[in-house]
Amino acid sequence: MKALIVYAHPSETSLNYAVKESLKLGFIDAGWEVIESDLYKMGYKPCLDRHDYPTFTEDAFSIDKASLKALEDHTYDREIEIEMDKIRAANIIVFQFPVWWQTTPAILTGWMQRNFPIGFGWPDPVLNGKKILVSCTAGNNPKEELETVLKVFTHPIEFMGGKILPLLIITKVNTMTAEERESELTYARERAREVATNFNEA
Ligand SMILES: Cc1cc2nc3c(=O)[nH]c(=O)nc-3n(C[C@H](O)[C@H](O)[C@H](O)COP(=O)(O)O)c2cc1C
Repeated sequence: MKALIVYAHPSETSLNYAVKESLKLGFIDAGWEVIESDLYKMGYKPCLDRHDYPTFTEDAFSIDKASLKALEDHTYDREIEIEMDKIRAANIIVFQFPVWWQTTPAILTGWMQRNFPIGFGWPDPVLNGKKILVSCTAGNNPKEELETVLKVFTHPIEFMGGKILPLLIITKVNTMTAEERESELTYARERAREVATNFNEA
């Protein structure tokens, strides 16, 4: 079984990185393979544009037309083909990111927009049977508020067949004590192990 962790934070010394590593350990504890997309480290291109379809040469650029052709010919930009393969292979997809202005960092928004085109994301929902763990950190917004605003991120995933697990949200990060931070990291590891171990019931 495989977990894909999509990590959207520019630093390896951040709380987000520590949570990501704890989640990874939890999956490994459960005997799972973990694959990663560390978007900043990859220099991931966040904007969907014409370069995503290198063999589409018509003057009139239709994204739907270019997408369907690229899917059929396997001629999507290599960066997208690689992410699509990871998405197909994953049983669980984890998103780890800081909340920025009540949404996901632009690089993660771009990952969603570029990798789930018509013909891949829907109408045959590619995320059918996959579980999705959204894990984020925030400075101030209460958890309930974040669950509501992040529907802009979770709804399209549900539309494509993914089952959203209860969100893992760490908020008030700036006033957190060292003990609280440790306990959040321990919880993240346990949560990943539990989700993996009880995959069929989750
Ligand atoms: C551009 C930007 C926007 C932010 N917007 C929010 C926000 O809308 N709500 C919130 O609770 N925290 C917000 N924050 C705080 C971050 O969520 C917080 O710094 C981050 O979760 C800390 O994790 P890190 O140490 O791994 O970076 C924002 C921070 C930045 C840099």
